[in-house]
Formats: sequence, structure tokens, C-alpha cells
Amino acid sequence: MQQITEYLNKNKDRFINELIELLKMPSVSADPAFSQDVLNTADAVKTALLEAGCDTVEICETKGYPIVYGEKIIDPKLPTVLVYGHYDVQPADPIDLWDSPPFEPVIKKTDIHPEGAIFARGACDDKGQMYMHVKAMEFMVKNDKLPCNVKFMIEGEEEVGSENLGEFVANNKEKLANDIILISDTGMIAKDVPSITTGLRGLSYVEVAVTGPNRDLHSGLYGGAVANPINVLTKMIASLHDENNRITIPGFYDKVEELSQEERNQMAKAPFNLENYKKALDIKDVYGEKGYTTNERNSIRPTLDVNGIWGGYIGAGAKTVIASTAYAKISMRLVPHQEWEEITRLFKAHFERLAPAGVTVEVKPHHGGQGYVTPIDNDGYKAASKAYKTTFGKTPIPQRSGGSIPIVALFEKELKSKTILMGFGLDSDAIHSPNEHFGIWNYLKGIETIPYFYKYFTELSKK
Ligand code: BES
Ligand code: MN
Ligand code: MN
Repeated sequence: MQQITEYLNKNKDRFINELIELLKMPSVSADPAFSQDVLNTADAVKTALLEAGCDTVEICETKGYPIVYGEKIIDPKLPTVLVYGHYDVQPADPIDLWDSPPFEPVIKKTDIHPEGAIFARGACDDKGQMYMHVKAMEFMVKNDKLPCNVKFMIEGEEEVGSENLGEFVANNKEKLANDIILISDTGMIAKDVPSITTGLRGLSYVEVAVTGPNRDLHSGLYGGAVANPINVLTKMIASLHDENNRITIPGFYDKVEELSQEERNQMAKAPFNLENYKKALDIKDVYGEKGYTTNERNSIRPTLDVNGIWGGYIGAGAKTVIASTAYAKISMRLVPHQEWEEITRLFKAHFERLAPAGVTVEVKPHHGGQGYVTPIDNDGYKAASKAYKTTFGKTPIPQRSGGSIPIVALFEKELKSKTILMGFGLDSDAIHSPNEHFGIWNYLKGIETIPYFYKYFTELSKK
């Protein structure tokens, strides 16, 4: 398939410019102020899919933001690949920490990306990676290289928990029927170390509020005599980990799948340099559950993290006050077999029990989802592995990721199909962070690799 490299050379400037146009649209799903922009982005994705050669593209309304669905069915007897991605992005905050405005994409060179990287919110997560599939489709259609059927399902609520996608999938099983689901919304180890993500963690996200007195109080007149909700909340949170950094919620680890020593040895073979890891984050040491390595801690082990905490006075200077209420947002990353709804219940029961008399506790579940592990002995994995081998010259390493795409487990349940996670991002791309970027090399490599997946998957399916 020599043509893909030729096609890329001829069209790469246009491919980059089209992505830049998409990145200018601030499709922040979390913030209602951007709702019209999110809707406009769905329209832009529809246009892009039609131009890339889909026969039909629809904007499917949901209770929230629409799902863009497109397809090209060349022969119902051939296999069907369902591509999933998301056109929504995380909020850009804190805006002050961006070197250039988040929705005015610029190309800059970095140490890791001497060819340049596009800096913008969503560059890697997930507009850049989603758009690789649109351009790979364009190549295949225009050059008569599409070997099978393709369906695209691009949603606009991934970053807020995909709350309406489950219902859409359950109601459209026929339409979405496929032989394999293909997603680029994860990362790889390094530019010269290709990897395929074989696992995602599940998630339970909750918000807690601890309320003491019925109003804010003078911290001199009342301090010491009533429970201070911020003191209490921080103490409760601190008690959620023990001295070995294990989570103390009763039952939390009951269903956790323990990996065999052999599987752990296998994992330890993936290239990883702890010194570089620390240097990249400017930290003197790593931190986490006793008995596990950094790569284990961030992939095969469950976690509990405060994502935000507030209450009381945070303005200029000092104000002496005991706040009436203190709040925190807490995420728990889960591993396969842990059930997110059960974990949410266990958390709630434990947290309510922890509260001393003198405060009331409210636990509000936000969203969640199951973890996922893909086997590596199926046609999908084999096709992906062969595709990377072709374009990187190296067999990719299977690697479980710590991130979550909760809908993947649901796809398996509802559509009975496996998902292959071909991610081309790097840890240094700063997704969800200020100065998010996506390497132009990675973007083009993704477009180059994807058509081979289709070719090998179709060939393997015929056997
Ligand atoms: N693309 C990410 C998930 C991801 C990134 C997985 C890198 C593996 C490697 C996705 O957009 C995301 O941010 N997911 C959220 C969960 C969602 C329910 C808000 C996450 O992992 O925090
Ligand atoms: Mn994503
Ligand atoms: Mn994300």
C-alpha cells in the first residue's frame, strides 16, 4: 500500500489545516456556555465524514449533545469496522497557564516533537486522534483501498461521562452491528516504542459535602467548640488511605483481579525509566500503593483521588471564618471485575459512617463505568499488531492504561464486540492540561497505520 505514503505527502498540509479548523471550535461539553459551539462541531464532523466518503451521515439527537453517525457499506457480506471517537473536549481552565490560547491552534516544535506539534485543547484528546480515522477513510475511499464496511459513531459527551450514549447504543444495536470496534483515544509508550492499549480502568466519580453549623461562623467565637467542616472533611479524606496507601473502604478490594507473577513480569518488560518519569514531572519521588511498581499503580491497581476540594475563604488576605460546608470531588479508578455502582455504594456507606456527630454528610454520585481488558489472541488485535509492524517496523507492546473510556465495556455488553485501542498520543501531550498538544508525526503516523488495520482485519476475517 505504497499509495498511503504518497497520498500523505501530497495532502499532509491540508490534513493539518483541516484539523486546525476543527480545533478552533470550543466544543467544551462540561460548560453550557459553549453549547452552540458543541452543536456546530457536530455539524463540522458530519461534513468531514461526508467529504471523506461516507454514503450517509446523520446527526442523531439525544437528551444531551448529538451523536454523529456515518457509514459506508460496500458489501454486507464483508466485515464491518465501527470507529468510535468524541468531538467534545475538556474545559480549557486554567486558561492563564496556556502559552497560547486554547482555541487558537499553533504549531510549535518541542524536544519530543522536532517536526512540530499542534497546541490546542482537544488536539490529542480526541479531535486529532478521531480525525486520523476520517482522513484514513478519505485515503481508502479515494484510492479504492477500502476493503470492508465502515461505521463511524462520534459522540459529544465523552468528557462528561457519555450519559446518553448507553441508551443510544441499546436502541440502535442493528445499526451499530459490527465485527470490531476501533478507537484512537489513548496513547502509546513512545514514538519508537509502539504499543496497543489492552486495558482501561473503570471509574466511580462522586461529590461529597460535609455540613456543620447552619451558617458561617466567627472562628474565634466558635472555633474549638463546633465541628469545622473543612477540618472534618480533610480528616475523613485522609483516613481513606492507610499507611501502605491502600484504600480503607471495606470491601473495596474484594473483586479486584490480582495478576499472576508471570503477568506482572511480562508487564515489567515494557520500557520504562523511573528517573525520566520523575524528571518529566519535576518530582523527587513517586508515591503509591506499597508492593507495586509505578506502572502497576497506574494501570492494574484501583485508586482513590481527590480531584477538587473547596470551602471557606479563599480570597485575598485573611478572613477568620468557619465555613458552614466543605466540598470535595473524588474519583476512584477501578480495575476489571470491580463493579462501579457497587463501589459507589460502598464509598457512600463508609463515608457517611466516618462522619462525627456534629456534621452531616452528603454523597452525590456523578458518573462511572466499568473497566475493560482486551484479549490479544483475536483477529482485531492481530490486525492492529501487524499494522503497527508495517508502519513502525516493530511489533507493538500490549499495555494496560490507567485512563477510562467507560463506554467500551458497555459496547461489549450491548453489541457483543471487542474494542481495539489504537492510540497515537504520548503521555507528554498534556491531555486535560494546559498546553495540550498532538505531534504532527503522531497524527500522520496514525493516518498511515489505520488503513493497514482495515486490510489485515479483512484478510484475517476471510480465513
Ligand atoms: N481519552 C481519555 C481517556 C484515556 C486517555 C485513556 C489516555 C487512556 C489513555 C478520555 O477522553 C477521558 O478523559 N476519559 C475520562 C473519563 C470520562 C468518564 C470523563 C478519564 O479517564 O478521566
Ligand atoms: Mn478522550
Ligand atoms: Mn479526555
